Amino acid sequence: MRAVGLLLLLLLSVCGSGAQREVQEMAPRDPAEEPTEQTTPDIWAEVRALRDMVVELNVHMGLQQREKSDLQSELLISKSRIDQLERLNAASKVAFYTALTSAGYVGPFNSDMTLKYNKVFTNIGSAYSPSTGVFTAPVRGVYYFQFTLCGNHTGLMGVYVYKNNQRIMYNVEWKEETLYKYFTNSVVLELVKGDKINLVLPSTYSLFDDGDNHSTFSGALLFTL
Ligand SMILES: *[C@@H]1O[C@H](CO)[C@@H](O)[C@H](O)[C@H]1NC(C)=O
Ligand SMILES: *[C@@H]1O[C@H](CO)[C@@H](O)[C@H](O)[C@H]1NC(C)=O
Repeated sequence: MRAVGLLLLLLLSVCGSGAQREVQEMAPRDPAEEPTEQTTPDIWAEVRALRDMVVELNVHMGLQQREKSDLQSELLISKSRIDQLERLNAASKVAFYTALTSAGYVGPFNSDMTLKYNKVFTNIGSAYSPSTGVFTAPVRGVYYFQFTLCGNHTGLMGVYVYKNNQRIMYNVEWKEETLYKYFTNSVVLELVKGDKINLVLPSTYSLFDDGDNHSTFSGALLFTL
């Protein structure tokens, strides 16, 4: 806008000086017999040239304005993308490691029971809840889960793996009358945000854990998708 103002000033001063020159040149003569044909065309040519310059400048500034707003919206898009990546990065640190209990035997029960691993040693991202025993995926990605079961009652020991209240795995062993029996299994699962994973003790089955961390459940996000 300042450039336009300057141009207008320039335009006015050119018109002004042209008019002055005209007056000076005309002064000694009689204005009636000598019209202003000599100087007038030059002034109008200059005025037209200046008008063209102003138009050109306006177009140029319009372009600059558009470039500026394009840049501003690109900046806004970049900023929201960075915010999104920061949120994703914060949500993508997920790892937990837990053990079942220090209290000895869990089960047998008359019905299936979600196992609440209540010794939480690692829980980066707090995706595992010890109060419910449920892991909730905080972000879409590929996750690795592993469990080790220990049994010490003679009889059935085992577990169901549930994803969103649907059984996706069943593992079972029979424990003889010997000291402690273990087995381990793992799964790699593609989960979306909010998917839930938990382990369920089938009815009549039992597990064992004490201060020695015999029965554990752990998991981690391998990578986001
Ligand atoms: C585990 O089982 C063995 C064999 O039955 C038994 O001797 C031992 O006392 C049991 N341990 C516990 C902590 O109950
Ligand atoms: C059980 O695991 C926790 C965490 O790793 C550890 O502090 C504790 O010493 C473990 N218990 C035994 C008997 O190793």
